Amino acid sequence: MCGIVGYVGGREAAGVILDGLGRLEYRGYDSAGLAVKGFGSDGKLRAVKRAGKLSVLRDAVAAGLPAGCVGLGHTRWATHGRPNDVNAHPHLSEDGRLAVIHNGIIENYVELREELAGRGHVFVSETDTEVLVHLMEEAYEATSHDLATAVRACLARVSGAYALVVAHAEHDALVAARNTSPLVIGLGSQENYLASDVPALLPYTRDVIYLLDGDVAELGRDGVVITNLQGVPQARETNRVEWDAEAAEKGGYEHYMLKEIYEQPTVLQNTLFGRFTHGGLDVELGLDLDPTTIDRVVITAAGTASYAGEVGRTLLRRLARLDTVVEVASEFRYSEPVVDERTLCIVVSQSGETIDTLEAMREAKRRGARTLAILNAKGSSISREADDVLYIHAGPEIGVASTKAYLGMVAAFALLSFWFARERGYMDDDAAREYVRALRELPGQVERVLQVREHVAQIAEQIKGARSSLFLGRGINAATALEGALKLKEISYVHAEAYPMGEMKHGPIALVDRDLPVVAVATNSPLYDKTVSNLQEVRARDGRLVVVADEDDTKIGQHAEFVIPVPRTLELLSPVVNVVPLQLLAYEVARALGRDIDQPRNLAKSVTVE
Ligand code: M6R
Repeated sequence: MCGIVGYVGGREAAGVILDGLGRLEYRGYDSAGLAVKGFGSDGKLRAVKRAGKLSVLRDAVAAGLPAGCVGLGHTRWATHGRPNDVNAHPHLSEDGRLAVIHNGIIENYVELREELAGRGHVFVSETDTEVLVHLMEEAYEATSHDLATAVRACLARVSGAYALVVAHAEHDALVAARNTSPLVIGLGSQENYLASDVPALLPYTRDVIYLLDGDVAELGRDGVVITNLQGVPQARETNRVEWDAEAAEKGGYEHYMLKEIYEQPTVLQNTLFGRFTHGGLDVELGLDLDPTTIDRVVITAAGTASYAGEVGRTLLRRLARLDTVVEVASEFRYSEPVVDERTLCIVVSQSGETIDTLEAMREAKRRGARTLAILNAKGSSISREADDVLYIHAGPEIGVASTKAYLGMVAAFALLSFWFARERGYMDDDAAREYVRALRELPGQVERVLQVREHVAQIAEQIKGARSSLFLGRGINAATALEGALKLKEISYVHAEAYPMGEMKHGPIALVDRDLPVVAVATNSPLYDKTVSNLQEVRARDGRLVVVADEDDTKIGQHAEFVIPVPRTLELLSPVVNVVPLQLLAYEVARALGRDIDQPRNLAKSVTVE
C-alpha cells in the first residue's frame, strides 16, 4: 500500500512531492523518500530517504529542499525487507543516476537477484524493488540511453505487480509503468504529475488519465506519451475528477469497507507472492521458528481474526497433520491453557493492539510456548513481543468491519500450513505444485467474484426485511459461515447465527420458516452430497436459501432461491473466494437499511480494553 508521487514542470518538485505524499497519509507507511533533478542537468539525482513517518523526511530536508523540477517520491509500507533507511525508496543505481520507486511485488525477484549478482551487480537493500534498478541500468546502456525503451526491456523480464516511476539524471522526464497496482497521471499546463491515488493530485489538477495494466507512460513538461510494453502507442481518455478530498480517499467508493473489499485481489498478491522458492515448490516466510520443535499449535485471536484462525486450524491439521486448536483470546488466559515449550501459539490480529489477544499471547509465553503473530499493522504491541511475525501486507484497514485483513490472514495461514506441510514431509512435489498453482489463481478469482456485486445487491433487497438469519457451512467453510454472520450483524444490526451445517438438525432447524434467510456455502468438497441434503432440509421447511456455489455447478439452482456463483478452487482454499460474496451481502443489506457502514454503532476498530 505504498504511496507514489511524481512531478515534471516549473515548480520545485520536492515541495509538490512532500505535499502529495502527505495527502496519501491515510494509506499508512513506515518510511519515505524522494529524488529530484534540475532541467537539463546530467549530474546525479539528489535523493533523501528516511525510515519513519513523513515528518522524519520533512525534517531531513528542512534546512533546504533539494532543488529541481523533475522528481519522484514514495511512502513505503514494507513487504520485502525491514522498514529502514536503506530499504526506503527511491532505489538508486550504482552510479546514482537512475532512481526507481515501486508499489507492488516483483514475484521473480529472487531469481533475478541471483542472476544480476552473478553479473557483478552489488545489492544494498533487502527489497524486491532493487532488481528493477539493476535491470534498468543494464537495459539503459543496451538501448543507447533511451529511458522508456530501457524500462520496457526491464519489465519484459519481470513478473508480478507494479506501479513504478523512474527518473534519470540525463532526462527531463519521468517514465512510469503499471501492472495491477494503481497509477494515475495528472495533467497540468506545462507540468504533469503522477500519483498512486487521486488525493495527491487534487490541489494541482482534476484532469487525470488512469493508466491501465501494461501501460508505459513518458511524462515530460509539455506532454505525455503512453505505449504498451511493446512500445505501441495507446490512446487513453482524460477524466475530470469531481470528488472532494474525502471521496477521493475512498477511491470513489461510497464507503471504506467497499473500497477495502475491492482491494482484496491486491492484498492476496501482497500476502502470497514473492515468497516462493525452488520453482514454486517451497516458501520462504522469514521465520526463526524450527518446525521440528513443534508438536502442537494453539491459535488465539478475537472476532474476525479468530475466524481466520478457524480456517488456519483446518489447514494446519489437514495439510501438515499438526494437532491444532483455536481458542477465543478473551477466554484463553482464564482457561488454564495446556501449552508448553513444544506448543506454537499463533496469535492473529489486524491491529496488533487487541488487548485480549496480546494478553493471551503473554499467557502462552509465560507457560513456555513459542509465539508467532499473523499481523497487519507494523510496530504494534504484539509485533514487538512475538517471537516471529508474519505480516499480511493488507495496508491500512479503516472500515470497522474487517474484510481485507481477514482475507490476508487466511492467505497467511495458507502459506504457513504449506510451509509446515513441506517441512514435515506431508506434501510431495506434485501436491505442492497443484497447491501453489491454485494459490496463484486466487487474486484473479477474487477479482471475478467482485463482479457479482449487482446480483448480491438484488438478493439483499429481497432479504433486508428479515429480523434474523442463519449462516451454514461445513468443514473448512464452517468458518466462512461464522465470518459471514459476523459481518451481517456488525454493520446491518440484523441478527445472524452461524452453524456448522451438520449441526442444524440438532436444534437450529426449528427456526426455519418462510421468513428466515438461510445463507449456505456449498462449494466443492467431499461433503458436497451431504451439504445438498442439508439444503433440501431447509427448502422443505420453506427457508429462503441463498447458496454460494461453484460457478460450474449446474444442479444447485434447484435447491436454492438464490445462487451466488464463485470460481472453483481447491476445497482447502475455497474460504478465500467464498467469503467475498458474504462480505458484499452484509454490505448491501446494511446499505439498503441505511446503516453507518464504516462506523457501526457500539464498535471500535481496535479494542484495547478487556
Ligand atoms: O485488530 P484485531 O484483528 O485484533 O481485531 C479483532 C476483532 O476486534 C475484530 O476482528 C472485530 O471482530 C472486527 N470488528 C470484525 O469485523
